[in-house]
Amino acid sequence: MERILICVAWPYANGPLHLGHIAGAYLPADIFARYHRAKGNEVLMVSGSDQHGTPITITAEQEGKTPQEIATKYHQGFLDSWNRLGIGFDLFTSTGTANHAHVVHDFFLRLLDKGYIYRDKMPLPYCPSCQRYLPDRYVEGRCPFCSSDEARGDQCDKCGKPLGPLELGNPRCRLCGGTPRTEDSEHFFLRLSAFRDELLGWVRQQGHWRPNVLNFTLRYLEEGLKDRAITRDIEWGISIPQPGFEKKRIYVWFEAVIGYLSATKEWAKIQKKENGWSAFWQQETRSYYFIGKDNIPFHTMIWPAMLMGYGEFNLPTDVPANEFLTIEGRKLSTSRNWAVWLPDYLDRYAPDPLRYLLSANMPETADADFSWREFVRRNNDELVATYGNLVHRVLTFTHRHFDGCVPASGELDAASKALLEKAAATVNAVDNSLHQCRFREGIRAAMSLAQETNRYLDDKSPWKVIEKDRASCATALFTSISTISCLKTVLSPFLPFSSQKLHHLLGFKGKVTEEKWGFHAVPSGQRLATPETLFTKLDEKIVAEESSRLGNGHN
Ligand code: MF3
Ligand code: ZN
Repeated sequence: MERILICVAWPYANGPLHLGHIAGAYLPADIFARYHRAKGNEVLMVSGSDQHGTPITITAEQEGKTPQEIATKYHQGFLDSWNRLGIGFDLFTSTGTANHAHVVHDFFLRLLDKGYIYRDKMPLPYCPSCQRYLPDRYVEGRCPFCSSDEARGDQCDKCGKPLGPLELGNPRCRLCGGTPRTEDSEHFFLRLSAFRDELLGWVRQQGHWRPNVLNFTLRYLEEGLKDRAITRDIEWGISIPQPGFEKKRIYVWFEAVIGYLSATKEWAKIQKKENGWSAFWQQETRSYYFIGKDNIPFHTMIWPAMLMGYGEFNLPTDVPANEFLTIEGRKLSTSRNWAVWLPDYLDRYAPDPLRYLLSANMPETADADFSWREFVRRNNDELVATYGNLVHRVLTFTHRHFDGCVPASGELDAASKALLEKAAATVNAVDNSLHQCRFREGIRAAMSLAQETNRYLDDKSPWKVIEKDRASCATALFTSISTISCLKTVLSPFLPFSSQKLHHLLGFKGKVTEEKWGFHAVPSGQRLATPETLFTKLDEKIVAEESSRLGNGHN
């Protein structure tokens, strides 16, 4: 048995989730967790709402609410979405808990004590008309790397590079549009430069990382690593455990990544195993960080450096960051409402078709596109026609001619043997793919078994021979039902709702999640439940309907 810690990016609690979030991090993390649980491994999957920082204060200002009101509102929305989409966190908490603040203070003080955090003055943008220092995201201007004019003072969304607010060309204050001037302010700094060599040595050993993650990180480290301020002139956030800093707060990124640790501690408390967290950090554990590509530097350099500085905790095993999801061929933009919002999706459609499409077309190694046409096509041609119909015709036929019980198989002919072998091989192929976080490959292998089973069934055509050769029909049905059971298992990490339904239709009791990964043939004589459809055909007209919502002021 392996111990698997699954850490998933903490979404800012300043707006609802959209498909970019899901394809980028939450769906792959959930598939991976379900797979490892089925393998019998000890899995802990955590994340929470990122409630601090300027993303929240900016939204609060825009909506005329307090930052706390914003954070609470969207946190509730996240919990509801996880529930409806079947994203099964062991704990989804928030950075607003006393536990988190406590763990962050401990981390901060240990690094301060070891000299990895130091105090210094730094020049910062100060807006004379607003009479305040401007946090990173309150300054906008030109990116020094790619010249995009929409870079923010923390990062450029165009090229993905983290930035400082003074690196921007033509800076402007986001509150009043005025030009900020530069003034000194006292802050704490993380001595990242001290970790550069150790990080470089460590990253060079991570040949199993995705090439984009590895190369991005190596290029970055080879250019050198600068110390970074980890406190801010802002009043919303975690306090700084040092006198004289009452009006400043810990930088949201410094504390959010510590959330991975604090969430496991909170989970352990809830489990009433106070020390239950420590095995995941201090003993043999494989830890995976599921994030979007814009978060790579924080997870492959900054968080590992913090862990190195703190000492005694495991470094990430893998950071399988995904690329971006485009929508109908264009870059997703929440401000332009060029996005598909998850709550809207879930109000209108079932969860599995979305999980299916985003798995089959996951932006794993390159950007991938979501389109409603493709959504309808994959639902109708693949889920309904290939998988759902296969299940339906086998189960209804068994009801009609074998009294709803799995027939006993006669001697297996070559074709039946070959199909059962392919099913067993598929269990291994999907296992292998998921083990390596290759989700597209995994779901493709599973669906090819469904196609193969359809071909087998067309070949055997039990409905044609039932009158004259009942025995060969029985064999064909036994073989198909077993293969369908195998499909249910290998697809369960991807399509948990339909796998559960199918588990029940096949006459199994209890939860499909309690079944171990493997090939579970259905015993002869097992009574099947009354057939029901697994998937529903979607009307082509939703393509136009849904596409027209994109880019509108409101949906
Ligand atoms: N809130 C950040 C974002 O949405 C992600 C934080 S990930 C964490 O981009 F690791 F810092 F928690
Ligand atoms: Zn201003």
